[in-house]
Amino acid sequence: MKIIIINGPNLNLLGKREPTVYGNKTFQDYFNQLKDRFEDVELSYYQSNIEGEIIDKIHETGFSHDGIILNAAAYTHTSVGIGDAIKAVETPVVEVHISNVYQREPYRHVSFIAPHSKGVITGFGLQSYELALRSFLI
Ligand code: DQA
Repeated sequence: MKIIIINGPNLNLLGKREPTVYGNKTFQDYFNQLKDRFEDVELSYYQSNIEGEIIDKIHETGFSHDGIILNAAAYTHTSVGIGDAIKAVETPVVEVHISNVYQREPYRHVSFIAPHSKGVITGFGLQSYELALRSFLI
């Protein structure tokens, strides 16, 4: 099973960024733990602050991987291009968010990703990624 986690803008700052919302663990630390716990999964991780690079990564992995776990961060709420990329590839995508976007500003209630995704997991902190990963294993 080959799964990639793709993180969007500002998620490189996890651990330092708004810790009351996003916690104080770096993504790399969380990812290393996840990899140790799911040894049988070929798990990789990519982060970019650039919309086009996220689209390129979806194209690159979207015909060879079994699943994409995508936290498009702020682009979730704005990007027709990322939504179209998900539609264009074969690999199923699970949309994730660390925070519960529905408890936040109304503009975060809109997703251009969700209509093209297998499902959405939001609000479980970094555990949202593990829940998304498990969804590919059931
Ligand atoms: C986020 C929620 C988005 O609204 C926000 O722009 C992010 C992170 C989350 O994981 O909770 O950058 O995707």
